[in-house]
Amino acid sequence: MLYKKLSEVSLSGRSVLLRSDLNAPIENGIVSNNERIVRSLPTINYILEAGSRLVIMSHLGRPIENDLFQKEFSLAPIVSSMESLLNRKINLYSLSEIEDLEHLDEISFIENTRFNTGEKSNDTNLSKRLANLADLFVMDAFATAHRAHASTTGVINFSNDACAGILLDEELTSLSKVKEDSKNSIAILGGAKISTKIGLIDSFSDSMDKVILGGGLANTCLAAKGFDVGGSLIEESSLMYAKELIKNPKIIVPETVVVSDSPEKKGRTIHVNSLNKNESIFDIAPEALYELKPIIQNSGTILWNGPIGFFEKENFARGTLTIADMIVSSKSFSVLGGGDTIAAAEKAGVIDKIDYVSTAGGAFLEFMEGKKLPAVEALMDKFN
Ligand code: 3PG
Repeated sequence: MLYKKLSEVSLSGRSVLLRSDLNAPIENGIVSNNERIVRSLPTINYILEAGSRLVIMSHLGRPIENDLFQKEFSLAPIVSSMESLLNRKINLYSLSEIEDLEHLDEISFIENTRFNTGEKSNDTNLSKRLANLADLFVMDAFATAHRAHASTTGVINFSNDACAGILLDEELTSLSKVKEDSKNSIAILGGAKISTKIGLIDSFSDSMDKVILGGGLANTCLAAKGFDVGGSLIEESSLMYAKELIKNPKIIVPETVVVSDSPEKKGRTIHVNSLNKNESIFDIAPEALYELKPIIQNSGTILWNGPIGFFEKENFARGTLTIADMIVSSKSFSVLGGGDTIAAAEKAGVIDKIDYVSTAGGAFLEFMEGKKLPAVEALMDKFN
């Protein structure tokens, strides 16, 4: 991918506008998980160490776009968290306030980009206003790179100069490695709804050697195979798709499962053909894990997205946690993405052993599906 990187531009005497994705969860006015903020630090520190004046912008949640301040979506908690991490005071301005400043602070924040009318429609006027704030625009928000918004895409077209930040480049490089490395590559895909993963399954069943399905994705395939899956989570509307999918020999759907008539009770291990009508599938069985073990162990690259069972419940966490263990015990290059998958890997205590953990949800899926990310396209166009 050809775009300019931060290390390739001169920062000397230049002010910088940085778009990060600091869309972190907030509870009672405090950031409850600062992972995205921490992962944005290498770019921020690099720019500050070069002595450039830095303006940071991000969205937070999905406020109404009306140019008005909305406390619930203010970046104030993000700025507080950043102040603690950098151990310095940082001012938070509205867009018009920062435009009126005579001199930029060494580091400052602009309020939620989604307060500004024209953000989501990638408005030209708003894009120009943002581009005019600094000499150089740095795009580092991989997790929002799939949105063609004024602060992610339009701004690139109107800035004097634009490049990719350290995190954006790291995400694109690591995730591309999985897409390009086709030797013994496997995908492990779980989660609730097969309809949200169709693009991913289609792309991987083409490019990878094996695709292991779990969770609701597997349940829908088991129903498509003609098994009575009782009260299991399935998607009727995707049954036709699943019927075609199971014909592909690369697709692996475990048939030994853990079932129960309630997620609050202990499960029993069965072959899916002996499930009672009042029961539901909540996990894959130890027998299935035993069969998957050599496939995972002998793989060269593993991409994992989505829990394999109802891992939030102790009785049904074993499948997901064992898969997580198997991934990090193998010698393969492992990559994961998505909030639930990160939570599962954290619960299994293996998150630090995964080779690359993406900060993105939707952008991760779109990139892995092979879709073009508008912000990355704009950076490449600027380079050419
Ligand atoms: C995310 O959390 O996936 C990104 O910050 C993008 O947020 P959005 O889906 O509201 O655009």
